[in-house]
Amino acid sequence: MRILVTGGAGYIGSHAIVVLLEAGHQVVALDNLANGSAVAVARAAELGGGEVPFIEGDVRDRALLDKLFAEQRIDAVMHFAGLKAVGESVQQPLAYFENNVGGTVTLCQAMEGAGAHRLVFSSSATVYGEGHPLPWHEGLPTGTPSNPYGRSKLMVEQVLSDLAVSDERWHIGVLRYFNPTGAHESGRIGESPRGTPNNLVPYIAQVATERRESLAVFGSDYPTDDGTGVRDYLHVMDLVEGHLAALEALDTRSGVNVWNLGTGRGYSVLEMVRAFETASGRSVPYHFAPRRAGDLPAFWADPGKAREELCWKARRDLDAMMMDVWRWQQANPEGYD
Ligand code: NAD
Ligand code: WQD
Repeated sequence: MRILVTGGAGYIGSHAIVVLLEAGHQVVALDNLANGSAVAVARAAELGGGEVPFIEGDVRDRALLDKLFAEQRIDAVMHFAGLKAVGESVQQPLAYFENNVGGTVTLCQAMEGAGAHRLVFSSSATVYGEGHPLPWHEGLPTGTPSNPYGRSKLMVEQVLSDLAVSDERWHIGVLRYFNPTGAHESGRIGESPRGTPNNLVPYIAQVATERRESLAVFGSDYPTDDGTGVRDYLHVMDLVEGHLAALEALDTRSGVNVWNLGTGRGYSVLEMVRAFETASGRSVPYHFAPRRAGDLPAFWADPGKAREELCWKARRDLDAMMMDVWRWQQANPEGYD
């Protein structure tokens, strides 16, 4: 198939390009470089052993999309493009709704116009909200995410669900990610946050290389074994393999299909720190700080539906995630910059 990867210059999109090429698909990447790098696309193409036309442009630009679909004969779209900084979304909610919701609406309009009805969308476990028993499975009702970023993901899920009801030609995969981390085993592509990292593992990696002094551990009094927050971290290569499996499953599955992508087990912040220290041989100084607003104590996935329906399962363990982040971090201390 010929697949459009929106957000292909970003962290997850660039890893998706590698597995798509390796599976024999053709890929076109679109990204406005708001948080990505053209270098990531070039390196992903090299790793996957293919050519990837890169279009610098915006998913909100309908004219550009129409031209792209007309020229490139796209069969399916993996839609990673979006803004993802939770704190920023509280400061700039309109930018988040315009980009994440508006961008997806425009993309779907262009797909409809071009007769391309197969879409895989990057959603998030944040759509479950809070208060559910663990682990979280797809049969649970969605809740109220604690920030505009999360609400933009929930809104897109609702848009896609209405769209699929309106026209049975749509085949849509909604993938609810838990906490992606890790990097491609080569160390050539990885997560390259701009400014201070918001997420745990990139922050730990920068402390280990002494770019930052100490990790602030947000909360030490959660009702977890060691008092720190627990999350279901999964390797980005497992995550993108899940996308490939979802894309293939859409051959025979119409409408909206929701799948969790997680491992089914959680690790605490302190377990993550220790695992990184072991993988890197460096020490990661940390101090305890107050809880971060909006954070939940602990959550992890029930990955059973993806296992049954996609024959997909996360294969890489925590050591592999940390060793791959460390390899990427050492080879690219400033990311792609
Ligand atoms: P990222 O920021 O590295 O990648 C997103 C890419 O989209 C960036 O390269 C950015 O430049 C591009 N982009 C943003 N707005 C665009 C627009 N309007 N038009 C074209 N390109 C645009 O983020 P990521 O971690 O790779 O995340 C990919 C997707 O997965 C996002 O939709 C994100 O919300 C979702 N997601 C990520 C996580 C995570 O922890 N990383 C978790 C759940 C869901
Ligand atoms: C993990 C744990 C923190 C940083 C977020 C979004 C979610 C999804 C993934 C993406 C928590 C703790 C963190 C630090 C810390 N989004 N922590 N010190 O919050 O589970 O999920 O990213 O697009 O929607 O909400 O991930 O990596 O920020 O935090 O102690 O400096 O690490 O409190 O327990 P989170 P995270």
